[in-house]
Amino acid sequence: MQLWKGRFQKALSKTTNDFNSSISFDSRMYREDIEGSIAHSAMLGKCGIISEEDAQTIGEGLRGILSDIESGKLTVDPEAEDIHTFIEGELTARLGDTGKRLHTARSRNDQVAVDIKLYLKKQVDEIDALVRGLLSVICSKAYENAETVMPGYTHLQRAQPITFGHHLMAYAEMLLRDLSRLKDCKARMDEMPLGSGALACTTYPIDRTITAELLGFERITNNSLDGVSDRDYCIELASVLSIIMVHLSRFSEEIIMWCSWEFKFVELDDAFSTGSSIMPQKKNPDIAELVRGKSGRVFGDLTTLLTVMKGIALAYNKDMQEDKEAIFDAVDTVKMCLTAFTPMLDTMKVLPQNMRKAAAGGFINATDCADYLVKKGLPFRDAYKATGELVAKCIEMGLTLETLPLDEYKKICDIFDDGVYEAIGLEKCAYERSPLGGPSPDNVKAQVMRVRGLI
Ligand code: ARG
Repeated sequence: MQLWKGRFQKALSKTTNDFNSSISFDSRMYREDIEGSIAHSAMLGKCGIISEEDAQTIGEGLRGILSDIESGKLTVDPEAEDIHTFIEGELTARLGDTGKRLHTARSRNDQVAVDIKLYLKKQVDEIDALVRGLLSVICSKAYENAETVMPGYTHLQRAQPITFGHHLMAYAEMLLRDLSRLKDCKARMDEMPLGSGALACTTYPIDRTITAELLGFERITNNSLDGVSDRDYCIELASVLSIIMVHLSRFSEEIIMWCSWEFKFVELDDAFSTGSSIMPQKKNPDIAELVRGKSGRVFGDLTTLLTVMKGIALAYNKDMQEDKEAIFDAVDTVKMCLTAFTPMLDTMKVLPQNMRKAAAGGFINATDCADYLVKKGLPFRDAYKATGELVAKCIEMGLTLETLPLDEYKKICDIFDDGVYEAIGLEKCAYERSPLGGPSPDNVKAQVMRVRGLI
């Protein structure tokens, strides 16, 4: 059933209806559509545009439809044009002429905009809670591993000793920024477009502040053309979600590496790993791989939204119906990824002895060796050169800086004495990196406390 059929002589062809219809993906906004309509009819009643009695009847009718959908008594008609049409049609079927008064001073253009905003504001809250859940797991794991020495990397080459807790807390910082981006995005989204009409507002004496207050919006939109044609909030949310996926994907990549026999820094719980159909020995980090892979979908959704919006003249154009599948997919994907990732990380076993072994093998205390010479008065550049020669010597002899005999040290620079072995001890090198923001255990614990206070 089309709401607009008066002008037309013929029914819509089946293929056109299927092509035009958005019911298969916008029916998930039935609750928001009904909430919006309840607020709209209440406002119409208060402003004397429809009678208070009709407003009351419409409100009750809509509440009845809501509870019937929720209890399964009423199912959404897949042949309907969209959720707005379906709800209004159902209301009219139930209430007759009174139902037909609901759409006074409103268009589906402002209606759909308000529905999406109401829906996405709730989704932002859910994603916010999921990110906080992940942060809390990161904090626990980091606290437990505040003293666990591991190699820190640049260029995926062992670089300097750090603690595993510190490494994990780097992700906490990224996710805190994600939380603040979600908050900003929601604050900007918190503007009510209802009352913009199709594009040019209305001549009825509506009071938009009443609707905004009933629906819990902070402000109302200031320009009716913008009110119906703005989808910045979808683009902005998709970009915030894309950044979250970048973070989850990087974290996943590291977990995948750490699970490999080449690293063996961690082991995933059986409940969060999968096997191979042919290779009996395999234990694969599929969850992490899928999270990494699904980042592509979310970036794609952002690209879809940007592309849909970039060339359309003001105000509403049907292109904009393409917003929903993209932003819903981004929201669903991020929620799914966070829901899978958090317990996987929570149950992940850390293997500190393997991290320690890797930290001992790659000359990651070379900077500390140079710093030892600097503390004894040598200029840094000379200390750097001497240490470089020592590393070359170790490689030649198949030794490490810890196992290289003192006389070899002295051959390259006679300032060296026995104290060098203490100075390049891995725990010392990691634990004494204690200026604010560094990997020392005390810093890690302080970072954890700070983050726990924020979530
Ligand atoms: N299903 C439409 C959408 O999602 C609702 C708005 C329809 N407006 C219109 N002028 N055809 O964009």
